Amino acid sequence: MKQYSTLLTELSDGILLITINREDKLNALNKTVIAELSDVIDEVYSNAEIKGVIITGKGPKAFVAGADISEFKGMTEEEGKALARRGHEVFDKIEMSGKPIIAAVNGFALGGGCELAMACHIRIASENAKFGQPEVKLGIIPGYGGTQRLTQLIGKGKALELLMTADTIDATCAEKLGLVNDVVQTVELIDICKAMILKITGMAPYAIAKVIESVYAHFKDGIDGFDTEIELFGKCVTTTDFAEGTSAFLEKRKANFKGQ
Ligand code: COA
Repeated sequence: MKQYSTLLTELSDGILLITINREDKLNALNKTVIAELSDVIDEVYSNAEIKGVIITGKGPKAFVAGADISEFKGMTEEEGKALARRGHEVFDKIEMSGKPIIAAVNGFALGGGCELAMACHIRIASENAKFGQPEVKLGIIPGYGGTQRLTQLIGKGKALELLMTADTIDATCAEKLGLVNDVVQTVELIDICKAMILKITGMAPYAIAKVIESVYAHFKDGIDGFDTEIELFGKCVTTTDFAEGTSAFLEKRKANFKGQ
């Protein structure tokens, strides 16, 4: 694995734990973090040893407290668009990864932090986690996909409320809204995420990648998700893992998937 200046990485049992490591700035996403997240996700795509990913933030206080506001001053319209476009590219890459990615939200997930969590496939929050999109307080809107992914996850009414009031909500409220999958004790957060991702990576990897592709087809313009599902189902039945999965069931044994 490459070494990063703003990320800690730890690979064990095929699970890559990525920790955003700017605790003194509540893990705010500056340009270097965004660039390094892009690079590490490239590694996730290309490194066969990595089967699944957990993203978290360093320290007890924050997952990510947003994009780094200190980089915002004096931006031109073109620079603003470039910043947002870059964030979109990186977060889309997270979302479209065929390998499962869980956000272990261990504190503040505000602005770009909430957007990063929403780009992951699953969000597990610790009891002290807090979520919000406070951009309008600064005179901007979310720029890393927040207006879209929040609406997809919790619906238009509540999304508009959170986006326009800039309210911060706690983990229990986020769970009630469907913004997070589960809320767990802080000390157990990483272990619970690991257990969940190991469960997922124990399934047929090709099928997991196709579940992700098929679900996200729902949100792609001009694509009929039902057609996508039919296509991808057809592809799955041609895999060796499908033959292995069905044989294992009939032979009453655990399947040994090879990812082929
Ligand atoms: N960008 C840059 N720096 C940030 C940051 C951000 N989004 N969020 C926090 N920091 C920095 C603070 O400036 C401070 O740095 P300093 O010690 O050099 O002054 C450090 O992180 C600690 O933050 P602080 O505000 O002192 O902690 P707090 O416990 O009083 O408040 C928050 C925590 C999360 C409520 C507060 O930091 C906050 O509102 N952050 C911005 C959230 C936001 O608007 N995000 C969306 C950005 S688009």
